[in-house]
Amino acid sequence: MDFDFDAPIERRGTASFKWDLYGGDVLPLWVADMDFASPPQVVEALEARVAHGVFGYALAPDSLTEAIVAHLERRYGWRIESEWIVWLPGIVPGLNMSCEAFAAPGEAVLTVTPVYPPFLEAPAQRDRRLVAVPAELREGRWELPLDALERAVTPDMRVFLFCHPHNPLGRVWRREEVEALLDFCRRHDLILASDEIHCDLILDDLGHVPTGLVGPDDADRIVTFMSPSKTFNLPGLNFAYAIVADKALRRRFLRPGEGLLPFPGSFSVAAAEAAYREGAEWHAGLLDYLRGNRDALEAFVAAELPRVRMTHVEATYLAWLDVRELGLSDAAAACREAGVALSAGAAFGDPGFLRLNFGCRRKTLEEALRRLAAVLA
Ligand SMILES: Cc1ncc(COP(=O)(O)O)c(C=O)c1O
Repeated sequence: MDFDFDAPIERRGTASFKWDLYGGDVLPLWVADMDFASPPQVVEALEARVAHGVFGYALAPDSLTEAIVAHLERRYGWRIESEWIVWLPGIVPGLNMSCEAFAAPGEAVLTVTPVYPPFLEAPAQRDRRLVAVPAELREGRWELPLDALERAVTPDMRVFLFCHPHNPLGRVWRREEVEALLDFCRRHDLILASDEIHCDLILDDLGHVPTGLVGPDDADRIVTFMSPSKTFNLPGLNFAYAIVADKALRRRFLRPGEGLLPFPGSFSVAAAEAAYREGAEWHAGLLDYLRGNRDALEAFVAAELPRVRMTHVEATYLAWLDVRELGLSDAAAACREAGVALSAGAAFGDPGFLRLNFGCRRKTLEEALRRLAAVLA
């Protein structure tokens, strides 16, 4: 079956955070959702749910759990038990729960910047202390700053928040890198909370290695977060899950969410199961299309924006642009005035950068790049 990722779909006026926040003629290449319709099988599953007309409380069915277990084994060779799965309304609540469950008030939570803003916000939201260590750029590639992390450790540090693959750096962390991080966490007795929401969006010929697969002997310190939401473009359905193999750790993780977490919704369980069971062909087509967008973007930046630096995007549909050389006081505002909304680097812990979301039609990307050239060339 062919999927037409070039098909125009009007998103303005659909209560879309991405398209309706700025309005006007601004092309939104900011918040991380894609402009593509979800796989037809997902849309059909949702249509069937709507046609039924009864929207009582949902029970996440065993068939959904089985679909997730099969997906993880097929794609990653990771065999999990169904009891390890904890349903969440999103990964951001899971990051907050990790801070609250594993560190006491005032204790430290460690992460590497730049990073998806809720990593930086969750510790303070839960009255914990954030320690942020910048990633290192070596020979054009972003690396984990392992030596600097060693120096940043304090006796009251309890948790490491890991973004794997990395938003916004686009890095796929290799097995050796995950092993080194796990060794670091073991030596300093840190819980490793591994956000793997982008793990099905690997654009290069590289595999994603789940943290839980690398460290089966460290089950009592690993919480892995996953979701079909980025892969199949379902983030508006509010569905994610954590995988926590160790029973005692699972109980600790769940404690702060007691009485707060909603049941999974009827629509999200229907969509998630259809996506995992029937979305593989669409997913392969998506990766091809995103690869094409990534290549077009990298070629444009190299040829037309000589003062912008961009590292190669191995995974995700997000690019991290270094615009420091341009000396703009507010680069995101300047881009918006030129008709393109990008995410400002400051929110990720790195002013002087912009994040560009290329999960859109090729035509939209090309038009956005034409507009951006007026500001960034
Ligand atoms: C690394 C990362 N984690 C989590 C999220 C959001 O997860 P959720 O919508 O499930 O809270 C995003 C969305 O962009 C993300 O990039």
